[in-house]
Amino acid sequence: MAKDGSEIGINTRLAHSGNDPRDYFGFVNPPVVHASTVLYPNAAAMASRSQKYTYGTRGTPTMDALTLAVDALEGSAGTIAVPSGLAAVTVPLLTFVSSGEHLLIVDSVYHPTRNFADTMLKRLGVEVEYYDPRIGAGIAQLIKANTKVVFTESPGSNTYEVQDIPAIVEAAHAAGAIVMMDNTWATPLYFKPLDHGVDISIHAATKYPAGHSDVLLGTVSANEACWKQLYEGFCTLGCCSGPDDVYQVLRGLRTMGVRLEHHRKSALEIARWLEEQPGVAQVLHPALESHPDHALWKRDFCGSSGIFSIVLNGGGQKQQHAFLDALKIFGLGYSWGGYESLAVPVFLGDRTIAKGSYAGPLIRLQIGLEDVEDLKADIRRGLKAAAEAG
Ligand SMILES: Cc1ncc(COP(=O)(O)O)c(C=O)c1O
Repeated sequence: MAKDGSEIGINTRLAHSGNDPRDYFGFVNPPVVHASTVLYPNAAAMASRSQKYTYGTRGTPTMDALTLAVDALEGSAGTIAVPSGLAAVTVPLLTFVSSGEHLLIVDSVYHPTRNFADTMLKRLGVEVEYYDPRIGAGIAQLIKANTKVVFTESPGSNTYEVQDIPAIVEAAHAAGAIVMMDNTWATPLYFKPLDHGVDISIHAATKYPAGHSDVLLGTVSANEACWKQLYEGFCTLGCCSGPDDVYQVLRGLRTMGVRLEHHRKSALEIARWLEEQPGVAQVLHPALESHPDHALWKRDFCGSSGIFSIVLNGGGQKQQHAFLDALKIFGLGYSWGGYESLAVPVFLGDRTIAKGSYAGPLIRLQIGLEDVEDLKADIRRGLKAAAEAG
């Protein structure tokens, strides 16, 4: 019996979910179906709308292979695959929120989600409000008669505040609102949103599922109550993803368990080591006992992934840039979840509530699959350069 109560283990599910080799001459991997047009045998079949596949935007066997595999991980009624993680945020929001309705978004949200809400959703007449990631059951005070969606992301981007998802779900559902969660950090291996009452689970599959920094894709999984509306929104927007990208993500899923376990171990080892390093004021990683939300993380999550932030002990942009420019193995670039380590400066200027109080500049580290000792040596170079920057 697997840890989450299912009959088979997670790596077995990752290896075998989605497609059945017997459906395609025994080939282990499914064919990549490139399709716009699907032919019908006759006019009656067109009129009856009963044919399984009707047009490329609405689904293909390749898309099904991935979305069924994701359903097996999420425990969802259905999943859509969209062209990026950001589209996995925008498509469900456009589908479920209307003009005159109220949308609550966690203040530690991924910045482009905030940008979408503050520009397009506001232009379309949606009332957007941000809330403290540590609000928990207190969200009830912010929920109004017109609140339609509570958008969560846990842990939050860059500073990794953990949200009390069950408490938020309880308050939202009591008021008739639905809960969406960007669960990219944990993946369904370390947190299963629908098991905690979330209605819509969002993933930037660009990160751990794809795993190689070469594909953009997003998945959105819904419970039974929300699935029909989500699928209709997906078809209405025509926001489907290309078959080669879908295939690459299915290919990535097969090895995600072993990759993620390596990211988890290396990141945690480096995070613990960083807590002891001179020049580091704080390590923002929820699996560390020192993290203010550690108890909540431990209650709800069954693992941690490979991205966290550090706070330098004093200084400003000069020290932050000196650290980044001294790195030889860590690349300076956005995104995460790939096999290679990355570092970026953290900017919290967009926040209105969860601004925090930090001793120095923040740097986000994505720990890749390289050898830990080499990564430590690289970080040592960065810390030395920051100290020398004065
Ligand atoms: C938490 C989170 N959600 C969504 C996304 C968007 O993913 P994509 O880069 O595929 O658009 C990102 C990307 O960094 C992210 O960090």
